[in-house]
Amino acid sequence: KRLVVLVSGSGTNLQALLDAIEAQGIEAYGAEIVAVGADRDGIEGLARAERAALPTFVRRVKDYDTRDEWDAALTEAVAAYEPDLVVSAGFMKIVGKEFLARFGGRFVNTHPALLPSFPGAHGVREALAYGVKVTGCTVHFVDDGVDTGPIIAQGVVEIRDEDDESALHERIKEVERRLLVEVVGRLARNGHRIEGRKVVIP
Ligand code: GRF
Repeated sequence: KRLVVLVSGSGTNLQALLDAIEAQGIEAYGAEIVAVGADRDGIEGLARAERAALPTFVRRVKDYDTRDEWDAALTEAVAAYEPDLVVSAGFMKIVGKEFLARFGGRFVNTHPALLPSFPGAHGVREALAYGVKVTGCTVHFVDDGVDTGPIIAQGVVEIRDEDDESALHERIKEVERRLLVEVVGRLARNGHRIEGRKVVIP
């Protein structure tokens, strides 16, 4: 299966996928990353892709007159690589209806909280501020909401008294990277179907 991965930052989730495919081999893992896209330049995620000799592309919202034009450009850039699955690994933009029309149902996102709790761009900070005792990460299919699509898998992380946002996020990311690698591999090898809010991976 062909994966396109979208990033906006350090790209450690991307790196986990790259390392797993390298270690297991494309056949055994069931997928290869064919391109990496971003919404901004100069991020470590793109450097990781370049070190892996992968094609990269950047589509910045501010380069387009409207959000819909950006959405169309992103859709076209991803479609050029004919992916079977698109993975948002820390991609910090909400895609629009054209992207979802094209890739909905095969667009996976990872979020550093136990959805439906703490959706959005500050899930780690909000869980900490709320005072929950456990949080974690969620891998889900993207729908037309923000972090609201059908949940595929979740991992639990305990919050410690001494945690600040970055320490907690780092601990979540250790679980998140393993969960994403496991889920993407299963989706690639076994396929899936979505029945309402239920994801079935045979
Ligand atoms: C991940 O925790 C992701 O869930 C969140 O931002 C982080 C991205 O980390 N949206 P990285 O860029 O994969 O290192």
